[in-house]
Amino acid sequence: MAKSKTVFFCKECGAQSSNWIGKCPHCGAWNSYVEEVIERTDDGIISKTKSKSESKPKLINEIILSEEKRIDTLNQELNRVLGGGLVPGSILLIGGEPGIGKSTLLLQVALNCKGKRILYVSGEESLAQIKMRADRINASNDNCYILTETNTADIFNHAKELNPDIIIIDSIQTIQTDSIDSSAGSISQIRECAGELQRYSKTTGSAVFLVGHITKDGSIAGPKLLEHVVDAVLQFEGDRNYGYRILRSVKNRFGSTSELGIYEMQSYGLREVSNPSEILLSQRDEALSGTAIAATIEGSRPILIETQALVANSLYGTAGRSSTGFDQKRLSMLLAVLEKRGGVRLSSKDVFLNIAGGLRVDDPAIDLAVVVSLISSSEDVAISSRYCFAAEIGLSGELRPVTRIEQRIAEADKLGFEKIFISKYNTKGLNLTQYNTQIIPLTNIEEVIKNLF
Ligand code: TYD
Ligand code: MG
Repeated sequence: MAKSKTVFFCKECGAQSSNWIGKCPHCGAWNSYVEEVIERTDDGIISKTKSKSESKPKLINEIILSEEKRIDTLNQELNRVLGGGLVPGSILLIGGEPGIGKSTLLLQVALNCKGKRILYVSGEESLAQIKMRADRINASNDNCYILTETNTADIFNHAKELNPDIIIIDSIQTIQTDSIDSSAGSISQIRECAGELQRYSKTTGSAVFLVGHITKDGSIAGPKLLEHVVDAVLQFEGDRNYGYRILRSVKNRFGSTSELGIYEMQSYGLREVSNPSEILLSQRDEALSGTAIAATIEGSRPILIETQALVANSLYGTAGRSSTGFDQKRLSMLLAVLEKRGGVRLSSKDVFLNIAGGLRVDDPAIDLAVVVSLISSSEDVAISSRYCFAAEIGLSGELRPVTRIEQRIAEADKLGFEKIFISKYNTKGLNLTQYNTQIIPLTNIEEVIKNLF
């Protein structure tokens, strides 16, 4: 007779313990242990579905590499983030807040990926709801099967019959395996189901997409502890109030993690944004004070993006500083540099900084545009919208060189910018006359101020 056994799991890192602990010895989280029931078989081993593959050790010299053929998802932004397409037999996790568009993205991939057999398993929505969404997206695929099922054994039975190239599980929190007693969405269920799916994908060569929810406070476990199991973790993010969605990879065994996919949520689904500069720059003719354009690079792609600043007299004694899409500490640093090296008095002013489009930018090359927009707002002098900036700012107010300057200049050139301001140290080996855009090399903040204000 199988005895039921309870085990305690850490909600944060998935560590296991036989008794409750206040502080997790693995990740240091407090009060994160929850109790879960796991079935025990007679021989005392926690039951697991047995792998049916006949794997045996093989000499490394005997392994024949079949030409790694990636599946083209026909979604260029997704391909880019994956590093050039989907690798057969890989397992990927797409995480994101509820309502951000994970189901929409994957259904769209399923419907557009013609020539591939796809099994879309939904534990959240009914067939009719999915059909309605498909109609809304206005795409169809003769080889896309929809299954509303939550039991892994049943899912595998259907999958073996269909032998799909791609399996989509929406979402990992809703499916469960019979080998564990706890309810769907619990830590042990998520871990076990992901393990079963991983074994399935490795043995059959099907690529598996897992959808995982993250709540605002990150209280639902899953995505965090799944990161070790899966080959790639993609994060779908964006402000629900903005139309733009950004897909970034946090972990990728088959490609770079710095790539970015940009989408726009529209009434007919997600539109791929292949030329982000055009939408991230506001279309206007007259120049406004407080805005400057930065030539940044996200992944392998140059993006021109608008930084907006507002400097206003502080109502209260203490000046307020707030920034969206830009590191707050870096903003404080830049303000201090401006005050000390540029002679711009900002200590009694409220400062607000915003990166247009709801994007979060980590590229240090955006510093110069931020500083210029701050001075522009403070002095109420508009900067031409045909100027752009690419330089990092050091603590002594010097303009520091940034990576891949040629790519940035080429993008500015392509979009018809009149001038690009860069660091003097970035001009080595650069042919300054090969572009229509005029390149202005500068050494420090004082020179920037002299040049523009
Ligand atoms: P959904 O894919 O259900 O989000 P998730 O699976 O991440 O929870 O997307 C839901 C949101 O997307 C919902 O607020 C409606 C919106 N949406 C559109 O704006 N246009 C569309 O064509 C579709 C299908 C959804
Ligand atoms: Mg969904």
